[in-house]
Amino acid sequence: MCQLAWDTGKAFHWVIERAEDKQLMGMIIARVNAEKWELGYVLARAYWRRGYMTEAVKGIIAWALKQKDIHRVWAVCDVDNIASARVMEKVGMQREGILKRWSVHPNISAEPRDSYCYAITK
Ligand SMILES: CC(C)(COP(=O)(O)OP(=O)(O)OC[C@H]1O[C@@H](n2cnc3c(N)ncnc32)[C@H](O)[C@@H]1OP(=O)(O)O)[C@@H](O)C(=O)NCCC(=O)NCCS
Repeated sequence: MCQLAWDTGKAFHWVIERAEDKQLMGMIIARVNAEKWELGYVLARAYWRRGYMTEAVKGIIAWALKQKDIHRVWAVCDVDNIASARVMEKVGMQREGILKRWSVHPNISAEPRDSYCYAITK
């Protein structure tokens, strides 16, 4: 699925490896919708709180906004996902608002939950 999405330009998935030993730590996805990229990311718990995701998201945004046709990079997170919101704030994304009942996060509830929408534009 990831390979097909990459080949058709619909989404790009990257794995995140530790530089020194190539340990797999997590991944980032960019979903493409015309001039907009939507990011999603996850890191294995053992590697949390060491700045890895901030570094990775910053790199992807810097590259994306250098591309002529990409004008907006955005992402959402559950209103209780403090870590994810903080990553987005640290990379310079702005909180644009709350998307009510945006998505189901089954580890929290079977009901759709509110999410923050963050974005950075050029
Ligand atoms: C969200 C996630 C990717 C953050 O990755 P990370 O590499 O641990 O984040 P960083 O180390 O770059 O930390 C960024 C900021 O968040 C803060 N933070 C990280 N984890 C936190 C936590 N559990 N509680 C509170 N703050 C947290 C850090 O302290 C840092 O802020 P600071 O510099 O002001 O102290 C990681 O927690 C994760 O994979 N979570 C599960 C999947 C997920 O929620 N993905 C996002 C879906 S929207």
